[in-house]
Amino acid sequence: MDSRELGFPGYMVYAGLLASMTSLSIGYVIGSPNVPESAIRGKNGDCGPDPYTVHNGFPNCFEFADLLWGFAVGSFCLGALVGGLTGGSVQNMFGRIRTMFISNLFFILGALLLGLTYHQAQFIVGRIIIGFACGLGGVVAPTYLGEISTIKGRGTMGTMYQLLIVTGILISNLIGLGLSSPPLWRILLAINGIPALIQLFMLPSLVESPRYLVSKNRLQEARVSLQKLRGAGNNIEHEFSDMVHLLLGRDDNTAAVNQDSAFDEANYKTDPEAPVTATASGAPSPSHYSIGRLFTSECKGLAVIGILIHFFQQASGINGLIYYSTSFLGDVFGAGNSKYITVGVSSCNLLSTLASVFLIDKTGRRTLLLISLGGVAASSILLVIGAYADVGVLVVVAVFLYTAFFAIGLGPIPWLLLSELLPTYALSPASSIATAVNWGTNFVVGLVFPSLNRGLGNGTFILFASLSALGFFYTWYFIPETRARSIEEIMAEKGVAPRSDYN
Ligand code: GLC
Repeated sequence: MDSRELGFPGYMVYAGLLASMTSLSIGYVIGSPNVPESAIRGKNGDCGPDPYTVHNGFPNCFEFADLLWGFAVGSFCLGALVGGLTGGSVQNMFGRIRTMFISNLFFILGALLLGLTYHQAQFIVGRIIIGFACGLGGVVAPTYLGEISTIKGRGTMGTMYQLLIVTGILISNLIGLGLSSPPLWRILLAINGIPALIQLFMLPSLVESPRYLVSKNRLQEARVSLQKLRGAGNNIEHEFSDMVHLLLGRDDNTAAVNQDSAFDEANYKTDPEAPVTATASGAPSPSHYSIGRLFTSECKGLAVIGILIHFFQQASGINGLIYYSTSFLGDVFGAGNSKYITVGVSSCNLLSTLASVFLIDKTGRRTLLLISLGGVAASSILLVIGAYADVGVLVVVAVFLYTAFFAIGLGPIPWLLLSELLPTYALSPASSIATAVNWGTNFVVGLVFPSLNRGLGNGTFILFASLSALGFFYTWYFIPETRARSIEEIMAEKGVAPRSDYN
């Protein structure tokens, strides 16, 4: 069978699942401090009368003031910011598999530092290091998934990433139910290294991405890799020559290339900041935009749209809930009950993300975003009303609605919108900025939430409601529908002329 007709060949699914273990690790990092917060901080008398004494060399609990706890939880976003910004160059320099290997080493190191924490500062360093792994992994895993996927499997493989993030969050909450007393929270945090360890040992069973190999002009290896991904009996010739044509701007001729000393790796760069000088055939090929060039180019408006939606994703306050729900719902329901509500919220997140996989191609991105932002704003207001009127049921209903509305649109869509709005030559710099804006805003929310919540109680969500309402109007006026439309059509609607030197 022609490999372009294939859906889900077995080895590709295996490779996709193994690569997706990275998002499981990322989700676990995001979700793990939520349930054991009071045990780690020694609140509610969890550490007994003498909380900060040292047992077997390790204190049971640590004193974290609100702002410091916010910093400790959110600090992984700082590491992720650096990992995310360097991820593109690292994966182009070392390849996808070796980049996953490096990110696993940082996951394991971070998990060990967290599990063996003996000082607040070590906890923060551990979070920053494991955050670096998240940033790096958050770049390489989706890239690898997209690059090994068949055309028909691409949507599903892409959404697998967000699905496993929310699965990781849920798993960390569930394990937290059993391991959130002192000193068991140490085991909970150390477990974060296990998926990374499993992936690390199984990486040798994965093939390198054929697109990466083609971009490095390693065509024979690329062909072997693609054949393995598509299954031995299938014909990869058309898919392979399309790939070579697209990436190298010339026709595939593996035998000739091997003798073609005029074209070497140094001649073809995949680094987005490095202009591609010439293709093998000598024809000039357009360079990718730098960050500076992007914002003076015709694409700047579309780039701003794709970047701002990442800001609105985080400004909705979702991570206030994901990081601190057990603690702030504990004020209403008592600490014993609120951890079960947290598990319920994470389950709702997973189920609604699953629903979005089916809705996304039917309802369209813009419509889903509008429903999502409107719903998030309305349920935030409901949460505040419930909290002030002291009606617990209303608070719980609002939290579940809020999560469901977030997960059907605002959760997954920003991650796929950019690549649907921008042409390839403008995508890399825009993605770097969008990733930085996402992690940066996430950090600020994580940092200020515990202090805001102490001052305003659940009234904090009024702030998030206002920002989501703003996001709603922004989407209404500026975001075009991208479902089933080509980038050229979208650019034309926005009055953007494509570059004449690119096709
Ligand atoms: C998205 C967000 C992430 C958040 C998660 C919650 O992946 O980018 O910050 O924690 O959704 O489901």
